[in-house]
Amino acid sequence: MRFTSLLIVAPLAAWADARCIACHAGIVESYAKTGMGRSMSRPRAESQVQRSWWHDVSGRRMGIDWRDGKMLHFVEDRGNRAAHEIAWAVGSGNEGKSYLVQIGHSLFQSPISWYSARLFWDMSPGYHIDARPDFNRPVTAECLTCHAGQISPIAGTQNRYGNPAIVEEAIGCGRCHGDVAAHLAKAERGNIVNPAKLSRERRDSVCESCHLSGEARIPNPGRVFSDFRPGMQLEEVFSVYVPLKKSSDTVLKVISHSEQMASSKCAEMSAGKLWCASCHDPHKQPNEREKAAYYRDRCVSCHAKESIGAHVAKVGDDCVKCHMPRTRSYDGGHAAFTDHWIRTKKSENRFLDRGELLRAWREPAAAVQKRNLALAYVGNAAKSRSLARYREGVRLLNESMQEGHRDAAFAGVVGLQYLRDKQPARAAAWFQVAVQQETASSLARLNFAAALAGIGKTDDAKREAEEAIRLEPLLEEAYALLAEIEPKRAGFWKDQYRKLAPKRILP
Ligand code: HEC
Ligand code: HEC
Ligand code: HEC
Ligand code: HEC
Ligand code: HEC
Ligand code: HEC
Ligand code: HEC
Repeated sequence: MRFTSLLIVAPLAAWADARCIACHAGIVESYAKTGMGRSMSRPRAESQVQRSWWHDVSGRRMGIDWRDGKMLHFVEDRGNRAAHEIAWAVGSGNEGKSYLVQIGHSLFQSPISWYSARLFWDMSPGYHIDARPDFNRPVTAECLTCHAGQISPIAGTQNRYGNPAIVEEAIGCGRCHGDVAAHLAKAERGNIVNPAKLSRERRDSVCESCHLSGEARIPNPGRVFSDFRPGMQLEEVFSVYVPLKKSSDTVLKVISHSEQMASSKCAEMSAGKLWCASCHDPHKQPNEREKAAYYRDRCVSCHAKESIGAHVAKVGDDCVKCHMPRTRSYDGGHAAFTDHWIRTKKSENRFLDRGELLRAWREPAAAVQKRNLALAYVGNAAKSRSLARYREGVRLLNESMQEGHRDAAFAGVVGLQYLRDKQPARAAAWFQVAVQQETASSLARLNFAAALAGIGKTDDAKREAEEAIRLEPLLEEAYALLAEIEPKRAGFWKDQYRKLAPKRILP
């Protein structure tokens, strides 16, 4: 369902940036109605207000309830009922919404989502096959960097945030225009980022920072995704990896809009002229009635009437209906609904054999090329269940070790491979490197603890696991590890966790 009335969807406080209204009122108002201008919000009643159902795979009852004006999501398992108040909704609802709960200072995903096309509540993407759906999947800063305007993640933690966790709900003007201070001090052109005026790579980077998920996204040493600012090239902060071959399976498998677009001849042959804003005004979505004409005008801005006149006379002028049809495809909830690979049948066959190798969307600095690619392969192998990618990753990891990489993220991944390979002593040495650099990283501490336990250094392992808990009190795996290290106190550690997350339905 698409709401169009500004009054319903965007009360004053939700405007992307009230400081711009005085001079750019039209843009501020129309932007507030777009999906990006409503990308996150407090929960509201949907058209199906309540629902509960049995989830076959888990035998649990799932449901939505309202109490004292608050939206509750609940899970029931044989008489145990865990009802959580919903803190935020992710997604404008143009396609759907996912929901977040806050426990202590940590954010977790709800196993229940809203699907707009079906006007229906159902399991969240990825939860249909979950044998124990609960409110325990961490919501990382990576997820919210794409969906919220501004967040307050605590460095080193998985899903712990300051107060409030989400500082600015919807994506604001600054996410594409950068720092606005100079422009507010002196209102004129040239002192604020205008993506259209950047070099091709920097221009495209603005949209790619959120619209290009690829197979893997790897931050450079010491970087996090939210370090990206409009005006930078993506690779100054992180690089994105996509299948080496231009994929023909675009039709079946969903890939990002940026990737699809780049496969089109329109992009290939227009020497960088075609970009997202060739067709989209990020501040305004055309309504249903205007749409066909709106996009046709974009097409004919390059495909001059003279050259396609005969074509149009024959087939009509709703270009998008034929050349950018809506597709039905999912990748764990992220679907590109409109096929952005503009093509003819003939060029479709060009890319039929899709390999398992990856390539950088754009190469980062030479010093990190191999490191980033290695981390991309290893990181993606589990997700894509590709043995070929895993082997290639390990090979590149070895080569990168020889290049002398020792940053915390790299050391952590190397440590995990040794742990998986049942070489805890080597793993411990690498995790120690990681912990020394990122003393406040709960996961580095936890991994270090696991490796130390593996070589019988029980006291050290215990100290590291307890430190992980101090940094991130809701890090469930740390309690599990402590219960393993101290089997006699397993009950104690379980209780410690339960005190902080009393509603968890533990097996
Ligand atoms: C006091 C009035 C005023 C305010 C407040 C203001 N602007 Fe502007 N803005 C201007 C003027 C004037 C221009 C130049 C327009 C022109 O030359 O046509 C401009 C231009 C711009 C441009 C284009 C810059 C370029 O170099 O191409 C952007 C982007 C922009 N503003 C964004 C913003 C944002 C975002 C805010 C709020 C944070 C904002 N403005 C607040 C007056 C203002
Ligand atoms: C901070 C992350 C982010 C950036 C930067 C970003 N987008 Fe988006 N965009 C999103 C998200 C998230 C959605 C889905 C919003 C929803 O419906 O909840 C979206 C939706 C859209 C849509 C669908 C219509 C709408 O308004 O929701 C278009 C078109 C779009 N983006 C174009 C662009 C273009 C063009 C750029 C670059 C100039 C860009 N985006 C930059 C995150 C981003
Ligand atoms: C790399 C950036 C990125 C990450 C990470 C990401 N998303 Fe998205 N998400 C998008 C964009 C862009 C869209 C809209 C267009 C599309 O489907 O590609 C979207 C669409 C959605 C929608 C549908 C919104 C609508 O249009 O109604 C939901 C819900 C959603 N994402 C939830 C999540 C959750 C929850 C996470 C983290 C656990 C997450 N996403 C991680 C970029 C991202
Ligand atoms: C998703 C990215 C995105 C967001 C968010 C965004 N803009 Fe823009 N803005 C752009 C792009 C891209 C352009 C350049 C469009 C073009 O010239 O093709 C632009 C151009 C502008 C301009 C110059 C227009 C002109 O005619 O030269 C102004 C003013 C502006 N934006 C204001 C705002 C304000 C105010 C907000 C917040 C309410 C905002 N923008 C949010 C992407 C964005
Ligand atoms: C920035 C300019 C630009 C825009 C905007 C643009 N195109 Fe293209 N397009 C090109 C160029 C350049 C080519 C390659 C040369 C040619 O076939 O004319 C091309 C090729 C094509 C082809 C042939 C593809 C193939 O695989 O053989 C189709 C179909 C097409 N465009 C349709 C569209 C449609 C539909 C739109 C609007 C939704 C559009 N284009 C918008 C520049 C553009
Ligand atoms: C040649 C024109 C064209 C270009 C270039 C283009 N888009 Fe689109 N885009 C469309 C059309 C047409 C739709 C469907 C609009 C609708 O039905 O409301 C669309 C829809 C979308 C949507 C809404 C979800 C969906 O899949 O329907 C998002 C998000 C989006 N585009 C992002 C992007 C991004 C990011 C880029 C740059 C990489 C881009 N688009 C470049 C034409 C274009
Ligand atoms: C009814 C469906 C339909 C509509 C509407 C349509 N096209 Fe096409 N178009 C096709 C088909 C079919 C082909 C060529 C055959 C193929 O797919 O192999 C084609 C081919 C093209 C080509 C490539 C020509 C070549 O010589 O390779 C371009 C460019 C193009 N269309 C642009 C447009 C533009 C721009 C519009 C809107 C003004 C448009 N088309 C409207 C179906 C359509």
